[in-house]
Amino acid sequence: MATAAEYGLGPNTYPRGWFIVAESREIDDGPIGVTFFGRDFALYRGESGNPVMLDAYCAHMGTHLAKNTSSMLIIAEVGGKHIEGDSIRCPYHGWRYNAEGHVDDIPYHDGPCPKSASIRSYPVVDNMGCIMMWFDEDGADPDYPPPYLAQWDEGGWVHWDLDHLPELDIHPQEVLDNMCDNRHLGPTHGAPCEYFENEMRDHVLIQRQGGAMTLYGGAMLYTTTWYTGPGVLLSKQVWGDATQFEMIANTPVGDGRIKAWHGCLVKSASGTVTPEDKETQA
Ligand code: FES
Repeated sequence: MATAAEYGLGPNTYPRGWFIVAESREIDDGPIGVTFFGRDFALYRGESGNPVMLDAYCAHMGTHLAKNTSSMLIIAEVGGKHIEGDSIRCPYHGWRYNAEGHVDDIPYHDGPCPKSASIRSYPVVDNMGCIMMWFDEDGADPDYPPPYLAQWDEGGWVHWDLDHLPELDIHPQEVLDNMCDNRHLGPTHGAPCEYFENEMRDHVLIQRQGGAMTLYGGAMLYTTTWYTGPGVLLSKQVWGDATQFEMIANTPVGDGRIKAWHGCLVKSASGTVTPEDKETQA
């Protein structure tokens, strides 16, 4: 494991871009606490249905906004709810933060809420069954859209339920390096490449390659794989009549440590997704 400083990657510890921080379903039952980029966050779905991501700790006395099971606010809804509209109430004294991270209500105070009590809010979207956040250590806004497959919203594709891979002591740089490693494709994936190229287009790193598979009668496998920023890999894989898309995502947890997810979006053979398709997919 190496750190960003050891790699000489510049003044910031973490890369910028869109990153997965949860599956969409993980915030359907209330707020959760997550840790990425060496920071703790509160992540929840507002009553509008939109996800919201805030720094985790209340500016009043430092309570975690999402992790609480004993506050009467949470267990008995005395005097209020944890989520109101797209705002979240701190379980300790009930200060309420809106989706922009500003305090918009203090239950025992009639005057204006202090602007100095604001906490940081992060751009976050619900996209392809995932909650994706934009992270920029310097606080800059997104300058490209999150990765997206149009097939996700077409009929006939079996959606992924993501595999949650364990946290790994790997720097994100080492994950990206794999995109130009053409000599692992035979031993690791069983299809030694017969052609291979990389292309950089702004924030997108593309790999095109193909070769005969060791199994499946030596059928040709053709793949086009691309990173949109450093956190989300999508890959179109074609062999015979079959086409699937694969997603592999990594998000820094700390400096030199990542969490990873994996899933496949597969075309249903019948053109309509059946329970059998979902079972096979799982
Ligand atoms: S610690 Fe959050 S309202 Fe007091």
